[in-house]
Amino acid sequence: MTLIKDLNPFNPGSGGSPPYLAGRENEQGRLMKILAEMSAGRSPGADMVMYGPRGMGKTVLLNWLEIEAKKASTKDNPIRTSWTTPNKLTSPTDLWSYLLSQDWKKRLKPDELTAGLGALSATWESKGAANQVLENTLVNECKKSPLIFLMDEAHTMDAGLCNGLLNLSQEIRREAPFLLVLAGTPGLRHFLSTVNASFIERSNKIGIGRLDAQATADAIVKPLNEHGIKIDDNTLAPVVEDSQHYPYFIQLWGEALWDLAKEKELQKLTSQEVTAAKTRVDSVRLDFYGERKDKLDDLGLLPAAIAIAKVFQDTETTTRDVLKKVIADNLPVDSLTTQSVNEHLRTFIRHDFVWRSPQMTLYEPGIPSLMTYILD
Ligand SMILES: Nc1ncnc2c1ncn2[C@@H]1O[C@H](COP(=O)(O)OP(=O)(O)O)[C@@H](O)[C@H]1O
Ligand SMILES: [Mg+2]
Repeated sequence: MTLIKDLNPFNPGSGGSPPYLAGRENEQGRLMKILAEMSAGRSPGADMVMYGPRGMGKTVLLNWLEIEAKKASTKDNPIRTSWTTPNKLTSPTDLWSYLLSQDWKKRLKPDELTAGLGALSATWESKGAANQVLENTLVNECKKSPLIFLMDEAHTMDAGLCNGLLNLSQEIRREAPFLLVLAGTPGLRHFLSTVNASFIERSNKIGIGRLDAQATADAIVKPLNEHGIKIDDNTLAPVVEDSQHYPYFIQLWGEALWDLAKEKELQKLTSQEVTAAKTRVDSVRLDFYGERKDKLDDLGLLPAAIAIAKVFQDTETTTRDVLKKVIADNLPVDSLTTQSVNEHLRTFIRHDFVWRSPQMTLYEPGIPSLMTYILD
């Protein structure tokens, strides 16, 4: 019994829901509005694209949306959700099996289903469009029960399949309530623009970035308080700052503080535990930074990364032009073209070293402290 009661509620890692989902009121508000429209049988005007650096909470937000959709689903007003990731999709057949409901699929035997879907969707790749029979089936299903189709890690999708899905989404949406939500790293934006030139302009974009200071504090304090562990504002202040308001680090901090409170059987945390927790957080973080740095090194981007990190020593945000200039200054002269500079910038974005939220015109570091680490 006590074992369960004492389970650490913090959840550092990927996709695991935090004990308290903090600071996403705006994003949740936007998603709830679309959910309400779907419940009323109205189609959303556009697909939804969610992007931000790793560890910011995209998967958590998708999870949350799925749970809300299930809550909103009633017998009279059913809403269906389907969640997938590109690694589960090797062909249009797989994609269709996630799009169509169990009811429809149950009418066929498994091998009939595979054969049927395979045959019906075989035209997809050649035409870049869906098969009419399956499309009509999906429209009819969505008329009865609106579908929210959630695709996590969408930046890793096969381009042809993605193009088919974007076209299909538009077709379905015109006739029945269907919402496509794509989530991925900042590279998703460019990926989608290469798949379908005008898609990004027409989609609803949500940037998933760092939290603010208050939300960071809430994310740590609320779960602690709920389990009878207190920490005052002054003691917490350095924790909030050190977390960089970065959700993954916030969970690391929460986990470490919780463990220390339990180990020492404390009801109130002091700066002594904060110091001890920092050692634990740092050891995980060091490995995390090391991994990122090695990746940049593998890509031959370390000199440019250091130069970019220097830019962010004096400012929190910068322009695309400044980044391009810094990259150009660090490229060998013989490979210096506008194209190669842009390509390098895109690589930095793809590895979320820098990124730009859709609400911003300026670029910021994916994780600010990674810059400091690289400089050190
Ligand atoms: N709003 C939030 N408040 C507190 N913790 C969060 C929040 N969003 C995400 N987290 C935590 O951050 C970590 C990364 O979340 P995740 O959804 O996996 O990020 P992403 O999908 O963007 O890589 C997880 O440990 C998660 O529990
Ligand atoms: Mg994720």
